[in-house]
Amino acid sequence: MNSDIFSNYIGPQGENITLLQSLIDDLLKQHAAWRNQQFKEDTSLYPKNFQPDSKIKEELDLLIEKSRQGIPTFHPRYSAQMTKDTTIPAILGQLVFLLTNPNNHAYEGGPVTTLLEVDVTNMLLKMCGFKEGWGHLTSGGSLANTEALWAIRDYYDNNNTVYFSSVCHYSWKRICKILNIKNYCEVPADGKFHLDLNVLEDKLKIRPALAVIANIGSTGTGSIDDIEGLLQLKDKYGFHLHVDAAYGGFFRSAILDEDGNVVPHTPDSALSEYAHRQLQAMQYADSVTIDPHKQGLISYGAGAVLYKHEGLRQVILNTAPYTYHITDKPNIGMYSLEGSRPGAMAAACYLTYKVLPLHKNGLGELLTMSLSASKYFYESLAKHDRLRNAHKPDLDINCFYIEPEEKTIASLNAKTQPVYHKLSLESENPPFILSKFVMPPELGARVFPDYTNANNEDVILLRSVFMKHWNAMDDFRYIKELINELDAILPRK
Ligand SMILES: Cc1ncc(COP(=O)(O)O)c(C=O)c1O
Repeated sequence: MNSDIFSNYIGPQGENITLLQSLIDDLLKQHAAWRNQQFKEDTSLYPKNFQPDSKIKEELDLLIEKSRQGIPTFHPRYSAQMTKDTTIPAILGQLVFLLTNPNNHAYEGGPVTTLLEVDVTNMLLKMCGFKEGWGHLTSGGSLANTEALWAIRDYYDNNNTVYFSSVCHYSWKRICKILNIKNYCEVPADGKFHLDLNVLEDKLKIRPALAVIANIGSTGTGSIDDIEGLLQLKDKYGFHLHVDAAYGGFFRSAILDEDGNVVPHTPDSALSEYAHRQLQAMQYADSVTIDPHKQGLISYGAGAVLYKHEGLRQVILNTAPYTYHITDKPNIGMYSLEGSRPGAMAAACYLTYKVLPLHKNGLGELLTMSLSASKYFYESLAKHDRLRNAHKPDLDINCFYIEPEEKTIASLNAKTQPVYHKLSLESENPPFILSKFVMPPELGARVFPDYTNANNEDVILLRSVFMKHWNAMDDFRYIKELINELDAILPRK
């Protein structure tokens, strides 16, 4: 096992904190020395006998005390939502530039971090298989999606329909409303949580599409839409294919060799052959949303949007009389919905992907561990007497339930909800923290076609986002413990 699996993290029990301490100490010393080199003729404004105010320390201690009431999202016992354990390179990369606070809206605001952002964008384009293209970082996935649809709307300039699946991220409906796109249409997902291509095609025959939004990693279940099938529909009907890979795009690193070539699928791969093929096909999309702050190991505040066609850049061009005056350098904000953007996030991404490059022997190795943990959990439930898988995960999000005596949604919910209560933030000191996926009855009927739902209820599934590589370690220790815990609290048959 690669030792980087340990060294890049603080560790669930703070095991590696001395590394971070010494690197921060060194970084601060080097930063102070650099400050001292600027405008060297100036004398200090600080009095000789200056003593720092104790107020900062007092308030900081109070804040640290408050932070202890937070949730241990870094721990493998937490698998409720898409929060990864922060990496040491991400913390340090961000810290280097937090100390000077560059603004990547324009080259003059952050000359060094602008160039780092260009490098990071090129790394992301390469990982996604875009041979040409452009893009930039955003504050997150919703902003990336918003900008993409704005550019698409204005570039194609027609009143055609935007299609997305019923399990798409909630931002899509909002974005259509914000952009005043009245022609949007939710296409039902099938029983595997994939956009139903038959229904989509029926609709395309009647109402042409401006864009189709596909998921590579839907928020609820991590499901990957059939990108290959969508590309065939794109050829037939003509539309812009935007892939919302905010969650799952980084899994492409798991199928790339060190030169960026896609490796063949093998039977022992943690990814299914289907998922492998769709990740490969992602390179033919027209644009992509991909979030470093999800599977890209960066702290919150880092999304990204990538475009293949230059034309989409021109329609969102923005100029201003008071900035963008250095014209022979990149001014990223001229082509971005957001104004001020932190150069520190570009540095966080840069350092992280230098240490953990975007291929199967770098970041991809960590993501493969998460996939293995999810697969192990799925296979364990397939053999279990009371726990049932609700789907075969395409990535590392597992939804499952307790098998009821009768095939009714009411009894499935009655069994599953109390378990959620015990293994979630609803309880005090839960041994594991999971979430739930609450499906509307129409989707429930597709996932559970042989169940009756007399009261037209939403369907409650337990949901674990196994996105921490810790879950695969020590022979899947935490996955086994989770199953033991579920066993202990499950209602007996
Ligand atoms: C598929 C997908 N798209 C978009 C988003 C929105 O991203 P953000 O929360 O960074 O705005 C999410 C968030 O979970 C997501 O899973």
